[in-house]
Amino acid sequence: MALIIDGKKIAESIRAEVRAEVEEIKKNRGRLPGLAFILVGEHPASQSYVKMKGKACKEAGFNSLTDRLPANTTEEALLARLRELNEDPAIHGILVQLPLPKHMNESRVIAAIDPRKDVDGFHPVNVGKLMIGEETFVPCTPAGIQELLMRSGNDPAGKHVVVVGRSNIVGKPIANILLQKRAGANAIVTIVHTGAADMAPYLKSADILIAAVGKPEFIHGEQLKPGVVVIDVGINRIPDPGSKTGSRIVGDVHFESAAKVAKAITPVPGGVGPMTIAMLMKNTLKARNLIEKR
Ligand code: GUN
Repeated sequence: MALIIDGKKIAESIRAEVRAEVEEIKKNRGRLPGLAFILVGEHPASQSYVKMKGKACKEAGFNSLTDRLPANTTEEALLARLRELNEDPAIHGILVQLPLPKHMNESRVIAAIDPRKDVDGFHPVNVGKLMIGEETFVPCTPAGIQELLMRSGNDPAGKHVVVVGRSNIVGKPIANILLQKRAGANAIVTIVHTGAADMAPYLKSADILIAAVGKPEFIHGEQLKPGVVVIDVGINRIPDPGSKTGSRIVGDVHFESAAKVAKAITPVPGGVGPMTIAMLMKNTLKARNLIEKR
C-alpha cells in the first residue's frame, strides 16, 4: 500500500514558518504583510475560497481586505480599483479571484496587477520569468506540489514526471517549475492532454504522475507503473447517495486502485488543496519582504 502524503500536515508546517516570520516582523515593528482580495459576482466556490484565504491571513498575522464587487461591475471600474491597490503601500499582494464574469477580459485584468504584487503568479511578466528560470512568483498550486514532493522525500530530479492537463493555473506552470535546472526540480517532464490519441504509454512511464484534468477518477491504478508517486490535483464533486449530503469530493485519480500500485499518493481532500493557501501566504510574505526592502 502506498504512503499517504499528508498535505494538511505539510501545509500547516509551512503556515507555522510564515507565522514565525510575521512574529519577527512584529517584534521589529515592521509593516505587516497586507493582502487584498477582489471577488466579482456570486460564484459559490469562489466565495468559499476567498473566505478560507481571508481566514488564513488572519491566522498568519497578515492584514487583509476583501472587495466584494457586484457581478455587473464594469471592467473599467475593476481596473481603476487595481490601480489604487497597486499604489497602496499597505498592500503587498493582490489576488483577483477567478473566474471573472463573462463580460470581463481576464487577461487584461491580470495584466493590470503590478507584477511585484502578483502573488498568484499569473501576470505575463511572472509567467515569462518562470519559463526562463528567473526568480519570480510561482502560482500557488504548482508551488505547493513542488513542496509536497520535496517535503515527502520524493525529489523529482532525474525522474520522469508526467503532467496530465495543460491549464495555465496548474499544468503549464508545474511542468516549467520541475523542468528547471535547480534543486527541487531537474526532472524529465512530459505534458499529456486531450490531444493524445492514446494516453496509456505516457501514463505507464511516469515515475511521478501529476493529475490536473478536472475529471473525476479519470486515471486508474492499472494504468500506472508500480512504485509511481501520484499527485492528485483534482477536486470533483460526484453524487453519492450513501452520504449525508448526497455527494462527495474525489480527485482525478481513482484512489483505491492507484494506492495499490503507488509508492506514495496524495489524498483528496487533504493533499494538494491545503497547500495552495499555504503557498499564497508564503508568496505574500515574499512580496512584502521585497517591497519593504526597497
Ligand atoms: N481560481 C481557481 N484557482 C485560483 C487561484 O489559484 N487564484 C485565483 N486568483 N483564482 C483561482
